[in-house]
Amino acid sequence: MRGLALSQSPDVGGAPTEGFDVIRHLDLSSSYTGAALGYNRAMPVTVVILAAGQGKRMQSDLPKVLQPLAGRPLLAHVIATATAIAPEAIHVVYGHGGEQVRSALPDAPVSWVLQAEQRGTGHALSQAMPAIDDGHLVLVLYGDVPLIRPGALERLLAAAGPKSMSLLTVELEDPTGYGRIVRGARGQVQRIVEEKDATARVRRIREGNTGVMVAPARLLRRWLGQLRADNAQGELYLTDVVAMAVKEKIEVVPQLVDAPSEVLGVNDKLQLAEVEAALRARRARDLLVAGVTLVDPARIDVRGDLAVGRDVQIDVNVVFEGRVRLGDRVRIGPNCVIRDSEIDADTEVFPNCVIDRATIGPACHIGPFARFRPSSQLARGVHIGNFVEVKNSKLGEGSKSNHLTYLGDAVIGARVNVGAGTVTCNYDGANKSQTHIDDGAFIGSGAMLVAPVRIGAGATIGAGSTITRDTPPDKLTLERSKQVTIDGWQRPAKKT
Ligand code: UD1
Ligand code: CA
Repeated sequence: MRGLALSQSPDVGGAPTEGFDVIRHLDLSSSYTGAALGYNRAMPVTVVILAAGQGKRMQSDLPKVLQPLAGRPLLAHVIATATAIAPEAIHVVYGHGGEQVRSALPDAPVSWVLQAEQRGTGHALSQAMPAIDDGHLVLVLYGDVPLIRPGALERLLAAAGPKSMSLLTVELEDPTGYGRIVRGARGQVQRIVEEKDATARVRRIREGNTGVMVAPARLLRRWLGQLRADNAQGELYLTDVVAMAVKEKIEVVPQLVDAPSEVLGVNDKLQLAEVEAALRARRARDLLVAGVTLVDPARIDVRGDLAVGRDVQIDVNVVFEGRVRLGDRVRIGPNCVIRDSEIDADTEVFPNCVIDRATIGPACHIGPFARFRPSSQLARGVHIGNFVEVKNSKLGEGSKSNHLTYLGDAVIGARVNVGAGTVTCNYDGANKSQTHIDDGAFIGSGAMLVAPVRIGAGATIGAGSTITRDTPPDKLTLERSKQVTIDGWQRPAKKT
């Protein structure tokens, strides 16, 4: 296996299979397991994610932090990033949308802290402080800043200590909406001024506050207690702790983020679309760096965890969801949706296929226009052709079903040929039953196989048969009324 970690993120998957290169995208996992960058820190770290805001500008009934980014709630991305740096604890301050937010993320490894009334970011953080030990460093993240990477957080943590705090800042062409970082003559940070409180001169500062900061809990607790809502918004601003630190000669270490796209905040649907595009581009870039050929990097959506082998090719408009693995030299045609599936080496998926929870062996041909519903397994060299639907079925090596067929709850051996228009009639209106088709059988076109039923090895089924009983191996079985020709029959003629 060629292990290839493209980002500083944990292995979110199970053990990688032989023959797969694993690209680890931290924020791709649907679970929150992992967490082992293995840093030895001077002080234990607690993360607090502020997520109680209403998000009025979303114009939506869904709370802002539950708005989907790459198929998962914004907040889930932030929690996954927090998990990746392996803190002692993660607290999420929630409020607006209350129970809806909690119940949308039932498995999140966090403790939930209610902020009943939204009185500002400083007030939000104070709600979590009673649960945090004085000896901890507190890392503050925002539920609406989802693209931040663990690497940036590690650097920020390394810059803070018992007598210093650190701040993540960003240089922006247009810093509208951001708090501004005011620096002194020697470049030292003096304070943060919110845009609504800023003079024209301060507004011209292009260095913005990302909101992400690290400070020792002992000092933070005291500072938060001293916040005043004497500002334009009448809120308790977390950002005011910076001036307090400066006054007490506590070192404030600013760190500029490498890529502004990492700290984009989401306040409305326009910004949500921008963040979606940024994430899409980041994932496409990771795939290209890993050696995948993308026909158009702007037209692929990876909404889950994608692991790839060598020389994989992906055509346009392909959507990956959940956990997907593509083996060496796999080719995916245009307009496919692939969810929670494995596709082994040298298999080609032709255009317009929908593949859900399938394990597809090597050297298979899939599609065009094939559909896999959950739980199917294909061995080597299987062909599934156009307008074939496969559900909860197994197909052995070299078996083929090329046209217009339904295979549901079927156990199919090796070298079986399923003719066009075959249906495994698996459902009697109440229960599902299995169809077994043993090695080397040949199913003529238009056969109805009424389950439960078994087609013996090497058996041939005549076209158009409705098979309701098991058929013996190596024999022709057919069920068909006799073909008759009526001599002297005349077509009706129109009455004049
Ligand atoms: C905040 C910062 C600003 C920074 C910007 C970066 C403050 C005062 N301002 O402004 O300096 O440039 O983020 O994106 O901190 N929240 C609560 N409870 C509250 C209020 C807010 O949990 O009472 C949460 C929100 O859900 C959100 C985060 O805190 O996740 C930030 O709040 P928001 O109102 O979006 O702050 P900004 O105006 O963007
Ligand atoms: Ca915001």
